[in-house]
Amino acid sequence: MEERLDELEQQAQKLETSAKQRDHLWRKAQQYGEEFLNDLPDLPAYSSSENMGRGVYDMPFEEEPKDLDALLDVLKSEVDTPGLNPASGKHVGYIPGGGLYPSAIADYLAAVTNRYTGVFFSSPGAVRIENMCIRWMNDLIGYPDSAAGNLTSGGSLANLIGLVAARDDSEIQGKNFDRAVIYTTHQVHHCVIKAIKFAGLKDATIREIPMDEHFRMKAEELRRQIKADRKEGLIPLVIFASAGTTDLGAVDPLESIADIAKDENIWFHVDAAYGGFFLLTDHGKEKMAGIAKSDSVTIDPHKGLFLPYGSGAVLVKDGQKLFDSQHMTANYLQDTRQATEEASPADLSPELSKHFRGLRMWLPLQLFGIQPFRAALEEKLLLTRYFYQEIQGINRIEVGPEPELSVMFFRYIPEKGDANAFNKKLVDEIHRDGRVFLSSTHIEGTIYLRLAVLNFRTHRKQIDLILSVLREKIHKLAGAATIS
Ligand SMILES: Cc1ncc(COP(=O)(O)O)c(C=O)c1O
Repeated sequence: MEERLDELEQQAQKLETSAKQRDHLWRKAQQYGEEFLNDLPDLPAYSSSENMGRGVYDMPFEEEPKDLDALLDVLKSEVDTPGLNPASGKHVGYIPGGGLYPSAIADYLAAVTNRYTGVFFSSPGAVRIENMCIRWMNDLIGYPDSAAGNLTSGGSLANLIGLVAARDDSEIQGKNFDRAVIYTTHQVHHCVIKAIKFAGLKDATIREIPMDEHFRMKAEELRRQIKADRKEGLIPLVIFASAGTTDLGAVDPLESIADIAKDENIWFHVDAAYGGFFLLTDHGKEKMAGIAKSDSVTIDPHKGLFLPYGSGAVLVKDGQKLFDSQHMTANYLQDTRQATEEASPADLSPELSKHFRGLRMWLPLQLFGIQPFRAALEEKLLLTRYFYQEIQGINRIEVGPEPELSVMFFRYIPEKGDANAFNKKLVDEIHRDGRVFLSSTHIEGTIYLRLAVLNFRTHRKQIDLILSVLREKIHKLAGAATIS
């Protein structure tokens, strides 16, 4: 046995790196990152390729080790080239991400030290950092000190946790789930519909409350519907409003909805995954007035705080309700229960072992201070208005309502032929070109292009390039006569 143990130890020791090996790995990775960031301004926002990254399969897992240079080559050609480039400031499709560099350093440090952030007992300092991030966001929303929250992998999980907290806080029983009603609009993010299924509420009724001409929930229709549902013997369970819809950037009337939720005693959740951090600006505060009156909020640092993907948050005004909904313990965790000064993430989320997500938010906020975030968000709001004005300088462009935050939509109406077919061709042409990236959507059968400005690298230069690519492509597809 001893001999075998020695032999196995020798082989297993290969998993531990020497200082020299670490230096080599770090230098190569750092060089890779530097090259990527230096080249980034000239890299396309989208690369369509026949191969679609299939080359990764040419390097299967094998018993024997591989060379780092060869692996980084695969990363470059097969992973970091084809498809969308979310790090690019020329990406204004979907909801752009960011990728602040200090967050990458934080992820590195979190992984090297591998602190266990599920419970306060095991890594009190790390949990304090996560709770500091949550408190800061709760203050931003205007929640009291009794609020709690959880750093999630993204908005989808945050919405799910918010919904489950609402379900658990109500007196509804499983046998009545088919009488539950969830109020929202047609524009709610589809992850909410998924969350409804995950929460076991697939038989509940989803009421899509009518919207005004700006695609915002009509609050009085909501009130009328709730009353009608109660008369029918249904159980109004939760209102899911949006503070910045993904498709169109609309902000539901939170103040009026909050009043209705209070009058009717219904849980009020705001999906501010996209729009929430605009609360750092005066404009955002005005648009989202009333958000503090909600019961829970989803807000995504990997959107409005420009963090790399993997950072969402759910915030719950009455923290005890989140705890009651999520807390669970096990015999083998009994030693951890003595440390109760701070809430443990595992008591407020479905996760137990998890990534130390707080560090990638804490480090950039501390290193840069809050001010540049505020400025960047105000800049995004202004850039969207700038684009909204400038795009109307192109003949035959039809725009949607004035942007409430940093998403707007538009289409080109050709002199002849089908407008939908034209706009589909236009967006395909932009994707093929790849210099800039915009995405499209459809509203009641009409195809529109969308502009979503949220990457911290998007500035006036990038917006001007997007305008010039649009002019060029419209010119190509429609002919010179149609351009002003
Ligand atoms: C309003 C809104 N809610 C929820 C989500 C889902 O968030 P995630 O992709 O982080 O899961 C998104 C994503 O774009 C969103 O825009």
